Amino acid sequence: MKVSSGKGKDEKYRRLTEIIKGYSNSPGSLIQILHQAQNIFGYLPKEVLCFISKETGFSSSRVYGVVTFYESFRLSPVGKYTIKLCLGTACHVRGASAMVDEIETLLGIKRGQTTEDGKFTLQTVNCLGSCALGPVAVINGNYHGHLTRRRVERVLKEYQ
Ligand code: FES
Repeated sequence: MKVSSGKGKDEKYRRLTEIIKGYSNSPGSLIQILHQAQNIFGYLPKEVLCFISKETGFSSSRVYGVVTFYESFRLSPVGKYTIKLCLGTACHVRGASAMVDEIETLLGIKRGQTTEDGKFTLQTVNCLGSCALGPVAVINGNYHGHLTRRRVERVLKEYQ
């Protein structure tokens, strides 16, 4: 029987420690460290934020303030598939809000949440740069345009 040793986690903290050592404690370095930490852990759990605070000397409120200010930082894990649905003007006028409702209903989550099985995370964005395809969503880098309620269901099934 395989027993988890926590070595993977230790290795992640070891890598993070090396990264922190490579930076000065200038304010700009905190953002860089947080980005790298997120790359290592997949998101920024509380214990990682405490670790960064301790190792860098930045106060925990400062660290938390930066993480909550920038949308690119995640405080909770994301699913295997991240659905980014556009709610920009061009997509909105073509019914994107109804697509959000449909996805929320089909997956049983609200925007910003991840399904219990860890498969899908639903996010909304302001423009994906493909307005002619609207309503449009990107799932792990794959564009799905001209969405309708029926098409949303079909698209999600592709990832089941
Ligand atoms: S407004 Fe939706 S892609 Fe631009």
